[in-house]
Amino acid sequence: MSNSLRLGIAGLGTVGAALVRIVQEKHDMLTARCGQSVVVTCVNARSKSKDRGVDLSNLTWIDDPVELAKSDDIDVYVELMGGDGDPAYSSVKAALENGKHVVTANKALLAKHGVELAEIAEQNGLLLNYEAAVAGGIPIIKVMRESLTANSVTRVFGILNGTCNYILTRMEDDGLSFEECLKDAQDLGFAEADPTFDIEGNDTAHKLSILASLAFGTRIAPDAIYLEGITKITIEDIEAARELGYRIKLLGVATKTPNGVESRVHPAMVPLGSAIAEIGGVTNAVSIEADTVGSLMMSGPGAGGDATASAVAGDICDIAKSKPGHQHGPALGQPAHSLLPHERSQMRAHEGGYFIRLTVQDKPGTMASIATRMAEQGISLESIVQRKHKKSGDEDSHAPIILVTHETTEHAINAALEGVKSDGRLVGHAQMIRIEKLT
Ligand SMILES: NC(=O)c1ccc[n+]([C@@H]2O[C@H](COP(=O)([O-])OP(=O)(O)OC[C@H]3O[C@@H](n4cnc5c(N)ncnc54)[C@H](OP(=O)(O)O)[C@@H]3O)[C@@H](O)[C@H]2O)c1
Repeated sequence: MSNSLRLGIAGLGTVGAALVRIVQEKHDMLTARCGQSVVVTCVNARSKSKDRGVDLSNLTWIDDPVELAKSDDIDVYVELMGGDGDPAYSSVKAALENGKHVVTANKALLAKHGVELAEIAEQNGLLLNYEAAVAGGIPIIKVMRESLTANSVTRVFGILNGTCNYILTRMEDDGLSFEECLKDAQDLGFAEADPTFDIEGNDTAHKLSILASLAFGTRIAPDAIYLEGITKITIEDIEAARELGYRIKLLGVATKTPNGVESRVHPAMVPLGSAIAEIGGVTNAVSIEADTVGSLMMSGPGAGGDATASAVAGDICDIAKSKPGHQHGPALGQPAHSLLPHERSQMRAHEGGYFIRLTVQDKPGTMASIATRMAEQGISLESIVQRKHKKSGDEDSHAPIILVTHETTEHAINAALEGVKSDGRLVGHAQMIRIEKLT
């Protein structure tokens, strides 16, 4: 290493350009805090001619990210291109194989190749830092990897996707449909033109897979996560939830159970007034429950150029402060080879309370049928509410019914709903939303 810590940055978009500006504008402060000057030497993006609003005139442009990653003119390779394939994967691997520390904000890359990359970093005595990959500006990785070393985590959960939280917040605040709120989020730049990855929960699953690995010492396994997005949530669900004292959030939850780690992403009811229910708009939050510290929650900006670059800069400063030749802590909190397998969650075995919204034929015996089918499965009801009738032309009138159950299993709920359906009482789809029990 030279006297300065030299950065090679691949990707000069929202986060990369913000990082270049922060490193340039805050040079003196960073030098004082890191005990070493931190400078950008080499950069790369797809288009060399695009104006990025930052001064790149003294920096070396290297066309190929893999060549940038191997360059003798850098000490740290900062990957801010995104994507789980090449060039992100091949360039990060090349950096680690060529003695460069790596900082990345790329959750998709880590979800797919994180264990392999962590292993290469360990073998070569290098740091692989990725604070910005989960919940943007919230320093949750550092907390889990370092500050909670003396804890056994029992549950980690959170609101990990700002787009979904924005949509659900607008639906409740303004009484708008899912489609209207999605369009609004796209117009404001909070949602991608193709929002599938966010609204179907995949983005949350990527982040949860990293948190679960850190929390429980398991291999990063996004495919092991039960996945359900927010596209089926209606304004009727949101209104009924509020009347019953709940708010709907898209949660990523990983829990230690006697059968292994249960990891799931789905819309969940959380009690109004709880800290997690109060997280609105694009804000993210992560909550950890552990034996020594108890419960803690961190909230803040989960995205945005400056907030994300803040986390990237923090990772870079940790590298500047690390001692050359010193054994670094493993990227995933424990040696990659010692991580346990993470089996796919069996949601049938999930235990909790359930919110169920049914539209039924308004005929005598319907309530009795529902009560009988629930009782057959040993499900005890906390409340059952029949709402106002809705006439639809010459057809029978339809009645919306809201059930809230006490703790039961998902297997029992599914069996009871099958029973109600086979009794011929159900009109359309039965909406089921899990109630997240908070401590
Ligand atoms: N934006 C956020 O708020 C946020 C929050 C947390 C984490 N992250 C993560 O941070 C990373 C960067 O996100 P971003 O929002 O900054 O993305 P972005 O605005 O789309 O920027 C991506 C940058 O990478 C460059 N790039 C893409 N493919 C490339 C290739 N094949 N070769 C060379 N350069 C390539 C692009 O070049 P051109 O500019 O020339 O097209 C662009 O400069 C992603 O992993 C993302 O998941 C972002």
